[in-house]
Amino acid sequence: MWGGRFADGPAAVMREINASIPFDKRMWRQDIAGSKAHVTMLGARGIVTAADAATIADGLDAVAADYAANGVPVDLDLEDIHMMTEARLAERIGAVAGRLHTARSRNDQVATDFRLWVRDAIDEVIAALGAFQAALLARADEHADAVMPGFTHLQSAQPVTLGHHLMAYHEMIARDLSRFADARRRMNRCPLGSAALAGTGFPIDRDATAAALGFDAPTRNSLDAVSDRDFALDYLSAATQCSLHLSRLAEEFVLWASQPFGFVALSDQWSTGSSIMPQKRNPDAAELVRGHAGRIMGCMTSLMVTMKGLPLAYSKDMQDDKPPVFDAHDLLALSIAAMTGMIASATFRTDRMRSVAESGFATATDLADWLVREANLPFREAHYVTGRAVKRAEELGVALDALSLDDLQAIDARIDARVYDVLSVDASVASRTSFGGTAPANVRAAIRAAREDG
Ligand code: ARG
Repeated sequence: MWGGRFADGPAAVMREINASIPFDKRMWRQDIAGSKAHVTMLGARGIVTAADAATIADGLDAVAADYAANGVPVDLDLEDIHMMTEARLAERIGAVAGRLHTARSRNDQVATDFRLWVRDAIDEVIAALGAFQAALLARADEHADAVMPGFTHLQSAQPVTLGHHLMAYHEMIARDLSRFADARRRMNRCPLGSAALAGTGFPIDRDATAAALGFDAPTRNSLDAVSDRDFALDYLSAATQCSLHLSRLAEEFVLWASQPFGFVALSDQWSTGSSIMPQKRNPDAAELVRGHAGRIMGCMTSLMVTMKGLPLAYSKDMQDDKPPVFDAHDLLALSIAAMTGMIASATFRTDRMRSVAESGFATATDLADWLVREANLPFREAHYVTGRAVKRAEELGVALDALSLDDLQAIDARIDARVYDVLSVDASVASRTSFGGTAPANVRAAIRAAREDG
Protein backbone atom coordinates (compact mmCIF):
# COMPACT_ATOMS: atom_id res chain seq x y z
CA MET A 1 0.00 0.00 0.00
CA TRP A 2 2.91 2.32 0.67
CA GLY A 3 5.69 0.41 -1.14
CA GLY A 4 6.50 3.21 -3.63
CA ARG A 5 9.27 4.78 -1.59
CA PHE A 6 10.82 1.53 -0.28
CA ALA A 7 13.32 -0.79 -1.91
CA ASP A 8 13.09 -3.57 0.67
CA GLY A 9 10.17 -5.17 2.57
CA PRO A 10 9.75 -5.11 6.35
CA ALA A 11 11.64 -7.49 8.63
CA ALA A 12 9.56 -10.40 9.90
CA VAL A 13 9.38 -8.96 13.41
CA MET A 14 8.55 -5.52 12.00
CA ARG A 15 5.63 -7.10 10.21
CA GLU A 16 4.54 -8.81 13.38
CA ILE A 17 4.77 -5.84 15.72
CA ASN A 18 3.04 -3.63 13.18
CA ALA A 19 0.06 -5.82 12.44
CA SER A 20 -3.31 -5.28 14.06
CA ILE A 21 -5.32 -7.59 11.81
CA PRO A 22 -5.31 -10.41 14.40
CA PHE A 23 -7.58 -8.30 16.61
CA ASP A 24 -8.98 -5.43 14.53
CA LYS A 25 -10.63 -7.87 12.14
CA ARG A 26 -13.35 -7.76 14.74
CA MET A 27 -14.33 -4.36 13.30
CA TRP A 28 -14.97 -5.63 9.79
CA ARG A 29 -18.66 -4.73 9.76
CA GLN A 30 -17.89 -1.17 10.85
CA ASP A 31 -15.04 -0.93 8.33
CA ILE A 32 -17.30 -1.98 5.47
CA ALA A 33 -20.07 0.39 6.62
CA GLY A 34 -17.61 3.30 6.81
CA SER A 35 -16.20 2.55 3.36
CA LYS A 36 -19.65 2.29 1.82
CA ALA A 37 -20.72 5.63 3.28
CA HIS A 38 -17.47 7.17 2.05
CA VAL A 39 -17.67 5.86 -1.51
CA THR A 40 -21.34 6.75 -1.84
CA MET A 41 -20.45 10.31 -0.87
CA LEU A 42 -17.47 10.35 -3.29
CA GLY A 43 -19.86 9.29 -6.08
CA ALA A 44 -22.50 11.87 -5.13
CA ARG A 45 -19.87 14.60 -5.14
CA GLY A 46 -18.40 13.47 -8.46
CA ILE A 47 -15.01 12.83 -6.83
CA VAL A 48 -15.22 9.35 -8.35
CA THR A 49 -17.63 8.56 -11.17
CA ALA A 50 -21.05 7.22 -10.30
CA ALA A 51 -20.18 3.99 -12.11
CA ASP A 52 -16.95 3.48 -10.14
CA ALA A 53 -18.74 4.29 -6.88
CA ALA A 54 -21.39 1.66 -7.64
CA THR A 55 -18.76 -0.94 -8.58
CA ILE A 56 -16.88 -0.28 -5.34
CA ALA A 57 -20.05 -0.37 -3.20
CA ASP A 58 -21.13 -3.67 -4.76
CA GLY A 59 -17.63 -5.04 -4.31
CA LEU A 60 -17.69 -4.07 -0.63
CA ASP A 61 -20.98 -5.95 -0.23
CA ALA A 62 -19.38 -9.02 -1.76
CA VAL A 63 -16.36 -8.75 0.55
CA ALA A 64 -18.73 -8.42 3.52
CA ALA A 65 -20.65 -11.51 2.44
CA ASP A 66 -17.37 -13.38 2.17
CA TYR A 67 -16.27 -12.25 5.67
CA ALA A 68 -19.66 -13.24 7.07
CA ALA A 69 -19.47 -16.68 5.53
CA ASN A 70 -15.78 -17.50 5.97
CA GLY A 71 -14.44 -15.10 8.57
CA VAL A 72 -11.74 -12.49 8.01
CA PRO A 73 -8.45 -14.06 6.94
CA VAL A 74 -5.37 -13.09 8.95
CA ASP A 75 -2.40 -12.08 6.83
CA LEU A 76 0.21 -10.01 8.61
CA ASP A 77 1.39 -8.58 5.28
CA LEU A 78 -1.93 -6.81 5.02
CA GLU A 79 -1.40 -5.26 8.47
CA ASP A 80 -4.93 -4.28 9.44
CA ILE A 81 -8.62 -4.64 8.60
CA HIS A 82 -8.50 -1.53 6.40
CA MET A 83 -5.75 -2.90 4.16
CA MET A 84 -7.26 -6.37 4.22
CA THR A 85 -10.62 -5.12 2.98
CA GLU A 86 -9.06 -3.00 0.26
CA ALA A 87 -6.97 -5.99 -0.89
CA ARG A 88 -10.03 -8.28 -0.94
CA LEU A 89 -11.91 -5.59 -2.87
CA ALA A 90 -9.11 -5.28 -5.43
CA GLU A 91 -9.17 -9.05 -5.91
CA ARG A 92 -12.80 -8.74 -6.93
CA ILE A 93 -13.03 -5.49 -8.88
CA GLY A 94 -9.45 -4.75 -9.91
CA ALA A 95 -7.70 -1.39 -10.01
CA VAL A 96 -10.84 0.67 -9.49
CA ALA A 97 -10.66 -0.46 -5.83
CA GLY A 98 -7.76 1.99 -5.50
CA ARG A 99 -10.20 4.90 -5.86
CA LEU A 100 -11.91 4.10 -2.54
CA HIS A 101 -9.14 5.64 -0.49
CA THR A 102 -9.50 9.08 -2.18
CA ALA A 103 -9.88 11.88 0.40
CA ARG A 104 -9.43 9.44 3.26
CA SER A 105 -6.65 8.13 5.49
CA ARG A 106 -6.53 5.09 7.69
CA ASN A 107 -6.38 7.59 10.53
CA ASP A 108 -9.90 8.91 10.06
CA GLN A 109 -11.00 5.47 8.90
CA VAL A 110 -9.92 3.71 12.09
CA ALA A 111 -11.27 6.52 14.28
CA THR A 112 -14.64 6.09 12.54
CA ASP A 113 -14.65 2.29 12.66
CA PHE A 114 -13.75 2.24 16.32
CA ARG A 115 -16.43 4.75 17.27
CA LEU A 116 -18.99 2.71 15.41
CA TRP A 117 -17.79 -0.42 17.19
CA VAL A 118 -17.90 1.16 20.64
CA ARG A 119 -21.33 2.59 19.87
CA ASP A 120 -22.61 -0.89 18.99
CA ALA A 121 -20.98 -2.26 22.15
CA ILE A 122 -22.83 0.34 24.22
CA ASP A 123 -26.15 -0.59 22.63
CA GLU A 124 -25.48 -4.22 23.48
CA VAL A 125 -24.60 -3.40 27.10
CA ILE A 126 -27.67 -1.19 27.50
CA ALA A 127 -29.93 -4.03 26.34
CA ALA A 128 -28.20 -6.53 28.65
CA LEU A 129 -28.45 -4.20 31.64
CA GLY A 130 -32.17 -3.76 30.91
CA ALA A 131 -32.62 -7.53 31.20
CA PHE A 132 -30.57 -7.56 34.40
CA GLN A 133 -32.75 -4.82 35.88
CA ALA A 134 -35.88 -6.76 34.94
CA ALA A 135 -34.53 -9.79 36.83
CA LEU A 136 -33.74 -7.63 39.87
CA LEU A 137 -37.22 -6.09 39.79
CA ALA A 138 -38.94 -9.46 39.59
CA ARG A 139 -37.04 -10.84 42.57
CA ALA A 140 -37.43 -7.61 44.57
CA ASP A 141 -41.17 -7.72 43.95
CA GLU A 142 -41.31 -11.31 45.18
CA HIS A 143 -39.42 -10.38 48.36
CA ALA A 144 -40.62 -6.83 49.01
CA ASP A 145 -41.40 -7.65 52.64
CA ALA A 146 -38.92 -10.45 53.35
CA VAL A 147 -36.93 -9.31 56.38
CA MET A 148 -33.18 -9.71 56.34
CA PRO A 149 -30.41 -8.25 58.45
CA GLY A 150 -29.02 -5.01 57.09
CA PHE A 151 -25.30 -4.63 57.74
CA THR A 152 -22.75 -1.97 58.41
CA HIS A 153 -19.16 -3.14 58.96
CA LEU A 154 -20.70 -6.53 58.06
CA GLN A 155 -22.21 -6.47 61.54
CA SER A 156 -25.96 -6.81 61.94
CA ALA A 157 -27.20 -3.19 61.99
CA GLN A 158 -30.93 -2.77 61.35
CA PRO A 159 -33.44 -5.03 59.65
CA VAL A 160 -34.16 -4.27 56.00
CA THR A 161 -36.07 -6.17 53.35
CA LEU A 162 -34.52 -8.31 50.66
CA GLY A 163 -36.57 -6.37 48.14
CA HIS A 164 -34.98 -3.13 49.32
CA HIS A 165 -31.52 -4.68 49.13
CA LEU A 166 -32.06 -5.87 45.55
CA MET A 167 -33.50 -2.49 44.58
CA ALA A 168 -30.28 -0.87 45.78
CA TYR A 169 -28.56 -2.68 42.88
CA HIS A 170 -31.33 -1.60 40.54
CA GLU A 171 -30.43 2.00 41.41
CA MET A 172 -26.73 1.43 40.74
CA ILE A 173 -27.51 -0.13 37.37
CA ALA A 174 -29.79 2.81 36.51
CA ARG A 175 -26.82 5.13 37.01
CA ASP A 176 -24.62 2.81 34.95
CA LEU A 177 -27.18 2.94 32.17
CA SER A 178 -27.14 6.72 32.24
CA ARG A 179 -23.33 6.72 32.06
CA PHE A 180 -23.40 4.47 28.98
CA ALA A 181 -26.12 6.57 27.35
CA ASP A 182 -24.15 9.72 28.11
CA ALA A 183 -20.95 8.25 26.64
CA ARG A 184 -22.87 7.24 23.52
CA ARG A 185 -24.32 10.73 23.08
CA ARG A 186 -20.94 12.38 23.46
CA MET A 187 -19.11 10.08 21.06
CA ASN A 188 -21.73 10.25 18.35
CA ARG A 189 -19.81 12.55 15.99
CA CYS A 190 -18.19 11.32 12.83
CA PRO A 191 -14.42 11.65 12.29
CA LEU A 192 -14.59 10.53 8.64
CA GLY A 193 -13.27 13.25 6.33
CA SER A 194 -10.62 14.44 8.80
CA ALA A 195 -8.23 12.44 6.59
CA ALA A 196 -4.71 11.96 7.96
CA LEU A 197 -4.82 14.94 10.31
CA ALA A 198 -5.43 18.16 8.38
CA GLY A 199 -8.64 17.52 6.47
CA THR A 200 -8.68 17.28 2.68
CA GLY A 201 -8.84 19.52 -0.37
CA PHE A 202 -11.39 17.29 -2.09
CA PRO A 203 -14.94 18.67 -2.03
CA ILE A 204 -16.25 16.00 0.34
CA ASP A 205 -19.59 16.13 2.14
CA ARG A 206 -18.97 15.29 5.78
CA ASP A 207 -22.59 15.83 6.78
CA ALA A 208 -23.64 13.13 4.33
CA THR A 209 -21.19 10.50 5.62
CA ALA A 210 -21.99 11.39 9.23
CA ALA A 211 -25.73 10.98 8.57
CA ALA A 212 -25.26 7.76 6.59
CA LEU A 213 -23.45 6.21 9.56
CA GLY A 214 -26.02 7.37 12.11
CA PHE A 215 -23.85 10.06 13.70
CA ASP A 216 -25.42 13.30 14.92
CA ALA A 217 -22.84 15.47 13.15
CA PRO A 218 -19.24 15.47 11.87
CA THR A 219 -16.44 16.12 14.40
CA ARG A 220 -15.31 19.76 14.40
CA ASN A 221 -11.51 19.56 14.45
CA SER A 222 -9.55 17.19 12.22
CA LEU A 223 -6.55 16.91 14.57
CA ASP A 224 -8.76 16.08 17.52
CA ALA A 225 -10.89 13.70 15.48
CA VAL A 226 -8.03 11.40 14.46
CA SER A 227 -6.24 11.44 17.80
CA ASP A 228 -9.06 11.40 20.35
CA ARG A 229 -9.74 8.13 22.09
CA ASP A 230 -11.62 9.51 25.05
CA PHE A 231 -14.81 8.03 23.60
CA ALA A 232 -13.24 4.61 24.25
CA LEU A 233 -12.17 5.74 27.72
CA ASP A 234 -15.71 6.92 28.44
CA TYR A 235 -16.88 3.45 27.54
CA LEU A 236 -14.19 1.78 29.65
CA SER A 237 -14.89 4.01 32.60
CA ALA A 238 -18.64 3.29 32.46
CA ALA A 239 -17.80 -0.40 32.04
CA THR A 240 -15.47 -0.29 35.03
CA GLN A 241 -18.05 1.34 37.29
CA CYS A 242 -20.67 -1.13 36.14
CA SER A 243 -18.32 -4.04 36.79
CA LEU A 244 -17.66 -2.71 40.28
CA HIS A 245 -21.38 -2.82 40.99
CA LEU A 246 -21.64 -6.34 39.62
CA SER A 247 -18.64 -7.31 41.68
CA ARG A 248 -20.24 -6.12 44.92
CA LEU A 249 -23.35 -8.15 44.20
CA ALA A 250 -21.18 -11.11 43.23
CA GLU A 251 -19.31 -10.80 46.53
CA GLU A 252 -22.62 -10.82 48.40
CA PHE A 253 -23.65 -13.95 46.55
CA VAL A 254 -20.39 -15.63 47.53
CA LEU A 255 -20.93 -14.67 51.17
CA TRP A 256 -24.63 -15.46 51.18
CA ALA A 257 -24.08 -18.87 49.60
CA SER A 258 -21.55 -19.82 52.31
CA GLN A 259 -22.76 -22.14 55.08
CA PRO A 260 -22.39 -19.63 57.95
CA PHE A 261 -24.67 -17.17 56.09
CA GLY A 262 -26.92 -19.60 54.24
CA PHE A 263 -28.96 -16.74 52.75
CA VAL A 264 -29.03 -18.05 49.20
CA ALA A 265 -28.90 -21.36 47.39
CA LEU A 266 -27.58 -21.08 43.86
CA SER A 267 -29.36 -23.20 41.29
CA ASP A 268 -27.52 -26.20 39.85
CA GLN A 269 -27.07 -24.28 36.62
CA TRP A 270 -25.04 -21.61 38.40
CA SER A 271 -22.99 -23.82 40.71
CA THR A 272 -19.95 -26.00 40.24
CA GLY A 273 -18.77 -29.04 42.17
CA SER A 274 -15.39 -30.03 43.51
CA SER A 275 -13.29 -32.82 42.08
CA ILE A 276 -12.35 -34.00 45.58
CA MET A 277 -15.02 -32.80 48.03
CA PRO A 278 -18.34 -34.37 47.05
CA GLN A 279 -20.47 -32.05 49.18
CA LYS A 280 -19.26 -28.87 47.46
CA ARG A 281 -21.49 -26.47 45.57
CA ASN A 282 -19.29 -23.57 44.62
CA PRO A 283 -20.31 -20.10 43.42
CA ASP A 284 -17.63 -19.95 40.70
CA ALA A 285 -19.58 -17.67 38.40
CA ALA A 286 -20.00 -15.08 41.14
CA GLU A 287 -16.31 -15.34 41.98
CA LEU A 288 -15.42 -14.81 38.32
CA VAL A 289 -17.68 -11.78 38.05
CA ARG A 290 -15.82 -10.43 41.08
CA GLY A 291 -12.51 -11.28 39.41
CA HIS A 292 -13.45 -9.86 36.00
CA ALA A 293 -14.04 -6.44 37.56
CA GLY A 294 -10.30 -6.29 38.24
CA ARG A 295 -9.47 -7.16 34.66
CA ILE A 296 -11.93 -4.59 33.29
CA MET A 297 -10.37 -1.93 35.48
CA GLY A 298 -6.99 -3.05 34.13
CA CYS A 299 -8.25 -2.49 30.58
CA MET A 300 -9.25 1.06 31.45
CA THR A 301 -5.88 1.73 33.06
CA SER A 302 -4.12 0.25 30.06
CA LEU A 303 -5.73 2.64 27.58
CA MET A 304 -5.31 5.63 29.87
CA VAL A 305 -1.59 4.94 30.09
CA THR A 306 -1.38 4.44 26.31
CA MET A 307 -2.96 7.84 25.64
CA LYS A 308 -1.17 9.79 28.32
CA GLY A 309 1.46 12.11 26.86
CA LEU A 310 0.88 11.31 23.17
CA PRO A 311 1.49 14.40 21.02
CA LEU A 312 -1.12 15.28 18.36
CA ALA A 313 -2.12 13.80 16.06
CA TYR A 314 -2.01 10.05 15.31
CA SER A 315 0.75 7.83 16.71
CA LYS A 316 0.93 4.10 16.26
CA ASP A 317 0.70 3.60 20.02
CA MET A 318 -2.98 4.24 19.44
CA GLN A 319 -3.34 0.92 17.66
CA ASP A 320 -3.10 -0.56 21.17
CA ASP A 321 -6.47 1.02 21.94
CA LYS A 322 -8.51 -1.90 20.68
CA PRO A 323 -7.46 -5.00 22.68
CA PRO A 324 -8.38 -3.50 26.07
CA VAL A 325 -11.74 -2.28 24.79
CA PHE A 326 -12.56 -5.62 23.15
CA ASP A 327 -11.46 -7.54 26.26
CA ALA A 328 -13.38 -5.30 28.65
CA HIS A 329 -16.50 -5.60 26.54
CA ASP A 330 -16.35 -9.40 26.43
CA LEU A 331 -15.76 -9.61 30.17
CA LEU A 332 -18.55 -7.16 30.95
CA ALA A 333 -21.07 -8.85 28.64
CA LEU A 334 -20.34 -12.20 30.29
CA SER A 335 -20.52 -10.72 33.77
CA ILE A 336 -23.91 -9.09 33.17
CA ALA A 337 -25.33 -12.26 31.65
CA ALA A 338 -24.00 -14.38 34.53
CA MET A 339 -25.37 -12.09 37.24
CA THR A 340 -28.73 -11.98 35.46
CA GLY A 341 -28.87 -15.76 35.39
CA MET A 342 -27.82 -16.09 39.02
CA ILE A 343 -30.35 -13.52 40.26
CA ALA A 344 -33.18 -14.98 38.21
CA SER A 345 -32.62 -18.55 39.39
CA ALA A 346 -31.35 -18.21 42.98
CA THR A 347 -33.42 -19.47 45.90
CA PHE A 348 -33.38 -16.86 48.64
CA ARG A 349 -33.61 -18.54 52.04
CA THR A 350 -35.80 -15.94 53.65
CA ASP A 351 -36.45 -18.00 56.82
CA ARG A 352 -32.77 -18.03 57.52
CA MET A 353 -32.45 -14.30 56.77
CA ARG A 354 -35.29 -13.57 59.16
CA SER A 355 -33.87 -15.63 61.99
CA VAL A 356 -30.46 -13.97 61.62
CA ALA A 357 -32.16 -10.56 61.58
CA GLU A 358 -33.97 -11.49 64.79
CA SER A 359 -30.87 -12.68 66.57
CA GLY A 360 -28.56 -9.69 66.18
CA PHE A 361 -30.32 -7.07 68.37
CA ALA A 362 -31.06 -5.34 65.09
CA THR A 363 -34.03 -3.46 66.56
CA ALA A 364 -31.91 -1.68 69.19
CA THR A 365 -32.25 1.59 67.25
CA ASP A 366 -36.03 1.13 67.32
CA LEU A 367 -35.95 0.90 71.11
CA ALA A 368 -33.80 4.03 71.34
CA ASP A 369 -36.13 5.88 68.94
CA TRP A 370 -39.15 4.75 71.04
CA LEU A 371 -37.56 6.17 74.22
CA VAL A 372 -37.06 9.50 72.43
CA ARG A 373 -40.57 9.54 71.02
CA GLU A 374 -42.63 8.11 73.87
CA ALA A 375 -40.57 8.87 76.99
CA ASN A 376 -39.02 12.12 75.75
CA LEU A 377 -35.41 11.10 76.45
CA PRO A 378 -32.62 12.93 74.62
CA PHE A 379 -31.27 10.54 71.93
CA ARG A 380 -27.88 10.18 73.64
CA GLU A 381 -29.53 9.02 76.86
CA ALA A 382 -31.88 6.71 74.94
CA HIS A 383 -28.79 5.23 73.24
CA TYR A 384 -27.25 4.51 76.66
CA VAL A 385 -30.42 2.94 78.09
CA THR A 386 -30.78 0.77 75.00
CA GLY A 387 -27.17 -0.31 75.26
CA ARG A 388 -27.92 -1.60 78.76
CA ALA A 389 -30.98 -3.45 77.49
CA VAL A 390 -28.85 -5.13 74.80
CA LYS A 391 -26.28 -6.09 77.43
CA ARG A 392 -29.02 -7.65 79.58
CA ALA A 393 -30.47 -9.58 76.61
CA GLU A 394 -26.97 -10.81 75.76
CA GLU A 395 -26.48 -12.03 79.36
CA LEU A 396 -29.78 -13.89 79.24
CA GLY A 397 -29.13 -15.18 75.71
CA VAL A 398 -32.43 -13.84 74.34
CA ALA A 399 -33.58 -11.36 71.71
CA LEU A 400 -34.54 -7.82 72.72
CA ASP A 401 -38.26 -8.47 72.38
CA ALA A 402 -37.92 -11.53 74.67
CA LEU A 403 -36.82 -9.38 77.65
CA SER A 404 -39.56 -9.18 80.27
CA LEU A 405 -41.11 -5.84 81.11
CA ASP A 406 -39.60 -6.20 84.60
CA ASP A 407 -36.14 -6.55 83.09
CA LEU A 408 -36.68 -3.51 80.90
CA GLN A 409 -38.13 -1.39 83.71
CA ALA A 410 -35.22 -2.35 85.96
CA ILE A 411 -33.03 -0.60 83.40
CA ASP A 412 -35.32 2.41 82.99
CA ALA A 413 -38.65 2.87 84.75
CA ARG A 414 -40.00 5.00 81.92
CA ILE A 415 -40.34 1.96 79.65
CA ASP A 416 -43.86 0.52 79.41
CA ALA A 417 -45.55 -2.37 77.61
CA ARG A 418 -46.17 -0.40 74.39
CA VAL A 419 -42.47 -0.80 73.64
CA TYR A 420 -43.07 -4.35 72.42
CA ASP A 421 -44.88 -2.89 69.41
CA VAL A 422 -41.56 -1.65 68.01
CA LEU A 423 -39.18 -4.43 69.00
CA SER A 424 -40.05 -6.97 66.30
CA VAL A 425 -38.16 -6.93 63.00
CA ASP A 426 -41.44 -6.59 61.09
CA ALA A 427 -42.44 -3.52 63.09
CA SER A 428 -38.96 -2.12 62.53
CA VAL A 429 -39.01 -2.39 58.74
CA ALA A 430 -42.65 -1.26 58.54
CA SER A 431 -41.73 1.91 60.43
CA ARG A 432 -39.01 2.97 57.95
CA THR A 433 -41.37 4.96 55.77
CA SER A 434 -39.13 7.95 55.01
CA PHE A 435 -38.65 8.38 51.26
CA GLY A 436 -36.13 5.80 50.11
CA GLY A 437 -36.55 3.77 53.31
CA THR A 438 -36.99 0.01 53.61
CA ALA A 439 -40.71 -0.18 54.58
CA PRO A 440 -42.37 -2.79 52.32
CA ALA A 441 -44.85 -0.17 51.12
CA ASN A 442 -41.94 2.03 50.02
CA VAL A 443 -40.20 -0.86 48.32
CA ARG A 444 -43.37 -1.65 46.36
CA ALA A 445 -43.69 1.99 45.38
CA ALA A 446 -40.02 2.02 44.25
CA ILE A 447 -40.60 -1.10 42.15
CA ARG A 448 -43.69 0.49 40.57
CA ALA A 449 -41.79 3.69 39.81
CA ALA A 450 -38.90 1.73 38.29
CA ARG A 451 -41.31 -0.17 36.07
CA GLU A 452 -42.93 3.05 34.92
CA ASP A 453 -39.52 4.62 34.14
CA GLY A 454 -38.28 1.59 32.30
N1 ARG B 1 -4.19 -0.21 12.27
C1 ARG B 1 -4.07 1.18 12.57
C2 ARG B 1 -4.67 1.44 13.97
O1 ARG B 1 -5.38 0.64 14.44
C3 ARG B 1 -4.79 2.00 11.55
C4 ARG B 1 -4.25 3.41 11.41
C5 ARG B 1 -2.90 3.38 10.79
N2 ARG B 1 -2.46 4.69 10.44
C6 ARG B 1 -1.20 4.93 10.22
N3 ARG B 1 -0.87 6.17 9.93
N4 ARG B 1 -0.26 4.04 10.29
O2 ARG B 1 -4.41 2.46 14.57
